[in-house]
Formats: sequence, structure tokens, C-alpha cells
Amino acid sequence: MSLGVCYYPEHWPEAWWEQDARRMREFGIDYVRIGEFAWSRYEPERGKFDWGWLDRAMDVLAKAGLKIVLGTPTCTPPKWLVDANPEMIPVDEQGRPRGFGSRRHYTFSSKAYWEESRRIVEVLSQRYGNHPGLVGWQTDNEYGCHDSILSWSATDLAAFQEWLRRKYQSPEQLNEAWGNAFWSMEVTRFDQVSLPNLAVTETNPAARLDFWRFHSEQVAGYDAMQCAILRANSPGRWITHNFMGFFNDFDHWAVGDNIDLASWDSYPIGFVERFPFTEEEKNRWALTSHPDIAPFHHDLYRGVGHGRFWVMEQQPGPVNWAPWNPVPKPGMVRLWTWEALAHGAEVVSYFRWRQATFAQEQMHAGLNLPGLHEFSQGGREAQTVGAELAALGSLPEPEKTAVAIVYDYESSWITRIQPQGADFHYYELVFRWYEAARRLGLDVDFVRPGASLAGYRLVLVPSLLHVSDAAEKAFAAADGIVFYGPRTGSKTRNYGIPANLPPGPLQPLVKLRVLEVSSLRPGLSLRVAGSVSGEARRWRDLVEAQGADVLARFEDGGPALAVAGRHHYLACWPDEALLRSMLTFACGKAGLATIDLPDCIRLRRRGALHFAFNYGDEVWSVPDAQAATLGAATVPPQGVAILQPSGHMTRS
Ligand code: GLA
Ligand code: GLA
Repeated sequence: MSLGVCYYPEHWPEAWWEQDARRMREFGIDYVRIGEFAWSRYEPERGKFDWGWLDRAMDVLAKAGLKIVLGTPTCTPPKWLVDANPEMIPVDEQGRPRGFGSRRHYTFSSKAYWEESRRIVEVLSQRYGNHPGLVGWQTDNEYGCHDSILSWSATDLAAFQEWLRRKYQSPEQLNEAWGNAFWSMEVTRFDQVSLPNLAVTETNPAARLDFWRFHSEQVAGYDAMQCAILRANSPGRWITHNFMGFFNDFDHWAVGDNIDLASWDSYPIGFVERFPFTEEEKNRWALTSHPDIAPFHHDLYRGVGHGRFWVMEQQPGPVNWAPWNPVPKPGMVRLWTWEALAHGAEVVSYFRWRQATFAQEQMHAGLNLPGLHEFSQGGREAQTVGAELAALGSLPEPEKTAVAIVYDYESSWITRIQPQGADFHYYELVFRWYEAARRLGLDVDFVRPGASLAGYRLVLVPSLLHVSDAAEKAFAAADGIVFYGPRTGSKTRNYGIPANLPPGPLQPLVKLRVLEVSSLRPGLSLRVAGSVSGEARRWRDLVEAQGADVLARFEDGGPALAVAGRHHYLACWPDEALLRSMLTFACGKAGLATIDLPDCIRLRRRGALHFAFNYGDEVWSVPDAQAATLGAATVPPQGVAILQPSGHMTRS
């Protein structure tokens, strides 16, 4: 449990390094991440290395007592490398090459780039793998940033055809799996398969899903290649990758299999602009962020990291990349830091030590003012947390929660390939279920489809388009109450409609069928009443109960919530009231206590400690009904309280 910072020695005079390191240590920074973009500095020409500066930087940082996380530099291949391997340049869906001049200018399909990556990771880890200051590695940087997973070049096409040949063995089997009888799309050779872009109208969704899987597998394979080299050359050091927020273009669970712990880059205010919030919500949360954005990802990446995660990059002030970039309200940098720790983060590492005075990110805040040795507002708040952490000592270990949400990357791809309703965003649906659970004071774990659900009292499946055999088995074996949302089980593995109709393999558990689906444009809604109540928006499944009990109905009499045994099916996209009503009902059945929190307050338990976070502008007092468990406490605006159950406040 400690603090870290991202540092770029190559951006500052060498004479500053020692002072920087000392000032980091002075307020309790233990970890420093370096090197992830420095390739052109240590290999200015192929095979001609200049390690001197990095040797000295590593030594200065280690001597100051900092533990070093070294990034592999593969997210920024230098110019000479790209010029020598033009086939590595990615191409966007419109057929335009994405050239040199920023970063991530490579496609995962390039064999030449794999070779160059292998070579540089080998050389780098042989040189520094056993450096006494080195504690861990970060592979690459933010796989997928700037839309860089899918690529549509000739290199990609050749690799995709090869992947299909391995997967399907014969063109006949490919035709069968994709349904190529439709629109005369059959092929007789694998080299006739084209990229699923730039056609007259929609290309085959089964082809697109395979194209996405192909790219996602390449990311995991590329990462595994780097990890194997790092493990061989750098014994005793852990490996992570820094994932992003609200990003679903590859299967993060699969990359999680390669690494020892997950990390992610938390820019809570930037993400307010990225998420499909209403304008009203965007304004409400513009200066603090929405209180579930960072926690959603803490909980997701704790799952991806097998229980272990870091925040590798914590927003320290305004960023440069959102359409608007306000200064966070005073207190928020401290709040976000404590919030990450409350959710189980081992380390919160700020991006970046000092604001740059040059190049693309010169408008991005750091812990120090641009080019100076002088703390910014965010830097002063990080200092405060450093002092608080030192005073508090250790925190109890985070425990498994009572509530699990199943999170699935393929469901995101499937619904983006054929939304069927323009505003059916998978990740938004999951986020809303998460938000509703946390508004009721619940702690949440994210789990992978097919992982054991044993021990969870309540399992939430906001949607899971394709239910694999493993997922079906895990649901059947769940010992808690399970809630499935709309479109669950509506697709086969090959992007078809299940022979027994949705929810396909879940029919024996939920005892109903979906006969038709109806997407609802903004402004349309349907009232839902019964054991739960509220409104359906955006989406409605027309359901035929086949043994399930109907708990709530739409205004036209159709089943809205049905149950068989412990398995519940919600046949719509619920509005806030319906979600709250359903989750309250679910918690009642699961025997979980809830607390109705204001929209700006969240709680999180870490062992016996309760943390309370106030994103609002008014003091929040723990209600009398909860004082017995939470202790009497008040939490100031943009403030944090740490409460001991049935005791008093530890601090606020
Ligand atoms: C047109 C085409 C059909 C089909 C429908 C879909 O009418 O002729 O083949 O694509 O649109 O509504
Ligand atoms: C990402 C990247 C960093 C930097 C920040 C800016 O998280 O990993 O290199 O660009 O964004 O917010």
C-alpha cells in the first residue's frame, strides 16, 4: 500500500535527477515507473545502443531508495525501425494508413514487428533484469490506446487468412460457420477471404466477430511473448500491463493470464467526457468525476489481476486529451488516491512527476508545475496522502465481496457489430448495474464468464450475448441468486441465433424463451410493475414463460422479470428506478443489507474498515440507521472518512 510516480528522466537535465528522486522520497513515493517511451534514446540506430544515460538514471533512482518499474518501449517504435518495416503500419477501417509521428504505429499482425519487439525486450531485460533497484516490468503501454487493436492492412489480411485456416481447416467449414450461403459469400480458398471492411453495405457479422477475436488473440500472444522473455531474464520481478478505462477492444482476461498483477490508468475526469452520460450528468460530475468511474475499474482490474492491482497512472490535475479539461476540485486527487486504496490497490502511481513544457502533452498536469521543482495542487494533495499513509500504517487485506458482476469483452464486440438499437452499449449497461449496486452500499467483484461463482450471494449478469459451455456450467453451479439481463444467450459462438431461441443454453435454468426483441428509440419507454417497478428504455425482449414465474410485467402484460429457482431474467434495459427496485429486491432475496446512498456518496469496505467518499458539495453525515455499523461520522465535500464498524471514525 503505497504511492508511485511516472517519471521521464529523458525529458529533464541529468543534473535534476537526484533532486527529483529526493523530493519523491520526501513525501513517501516508493515506486517510480520509467522508460516506456524511450526507445529512440537508447537505440538511435538499429543495433547502436546508448545505455549510459539509462544506467545512470536507474542508479540515481535506486540510490534514493526508489523501487523501479521499467516499461518495455514497444508502444513507440522509432523512425528507423518503421522505415525498415513499412508493412507494420496499421491501417484504419476506412483504409487509411496510420503513420509515424505519435505512438502505437504498429499492427499486432506484423511478424517483422514481433521480431523487433522480441529483440529489444531481450536486450533490455538482459541489461536491467537483475538491477538491484528493479522490482517489476510493464509490458508495452496501454494496448489499444488510440483505437489501435483492429487494423485493416494487407499484413492483417494475410495473418487473418492464416488464422482462419488453422481454425476452420477447410473453406467449407468456414462457409458453414459464417453462413456464407447468404448473399453469395461462399469461398473455395482461404486466400479469397477479404477484410470485413469497405464493402457496399454491412459485412458478415460472423466474419467481423472472428476478425475481432483474431486481433484480440494476437494482443494476448504478443504480450505473452514479451512476458516469457522478461521472466527468463529477470527472475524475481513481477510483470504488469497498464490497461485503460472504458476500453473493450481486446479480451483483458486473456492478457491478465500472462501477468502477475493488473494495473490501469485512472483519469476520472477525462472519462466523464468519454462515457455516454447525459449532458446533465456530464455537468454534474465535470469537476469531480462520477463516483463510480474509477471504482468500476478498480474492481474490474482487481479481477483481471487475480486479486492484485495498481493504479499505474493517476490523474493529478487537468489532462490534455478530452474535449474539455477542467481543473479538478481541490481534494479530488486525494480522494481518488484513497478510493483506489480502499478498493484494494497496492500502489497508486501518479502520471506524471512534472508537467512537460514541450510536445503533445504539455497541457497535461503533473505533480510539479511545468518545468519546475514546485508542487502543483495535485502534488500537494499527493503529499497529504503520503503523510496520512505514513501515519496510518497498514490497511487490512481486501476480501472477496458478496456480489459478483460477470464482465465479458465479446459481448461488447457482438453488440457493436450489430447494435440493433443505436444506444445499446454493453459497457454502459454494465456500468449502470454497477452504479445501482454501489448506490445501495454494496461492494462488487468482477468475474470472467465461466469462472466459479461459488460463494457469491448475488451474481449479476447485465448481459452476456454468447453463453459458452463453461459459463453455462458456472451459472448452473452458482450457489447465490443470479440475475441475467436482456440479450443474454442470444447468440451462438458463430454469431447465429440459437436453435432453441434465446437465451439458448440458459433455457433450462431460466425456463423461458425470447420470441422477438424490440429496440426503443429515445423517448419511448414501457412501464414495469409487480415485485419490482420502474421503466424499460432502449430495449425489450418479448418473452414466453415456459415454467418460469413472472414477477413483474410490462404495461402490455408481457413478462418483464421472471424467475425459475434462483435464476432471474430481466427482459429489458432498465431505467434507474427499475434497476434500483430490482437490486433492492435481489438483495432482499440474497439476504444482503442495503443502504440508500445519495448519488454523490459511496462506501467501500477493506477488511474491517469502512471508507466513505463524498463527491458532492455538502457535508454527509452517516444516517442514524447505519451509525451502529459505520460509527457516527461526517464526511466533508470532496472528502474521505475511514470508519471502524460500531466504533468511531479513524480519520476524515
Ligand atoms: C432490401 C433488400 C433485401 C433485404 C431488405 C432488408 O429490401 O432487397 O434483400 O436486405 O432490404 O430489409
Ligand atoms: C495515457 C498514457 C500516458 C499519457 C496519459 C495522459 O494514460 O499511458 O502515456 O499519455 O494517457 O493522460
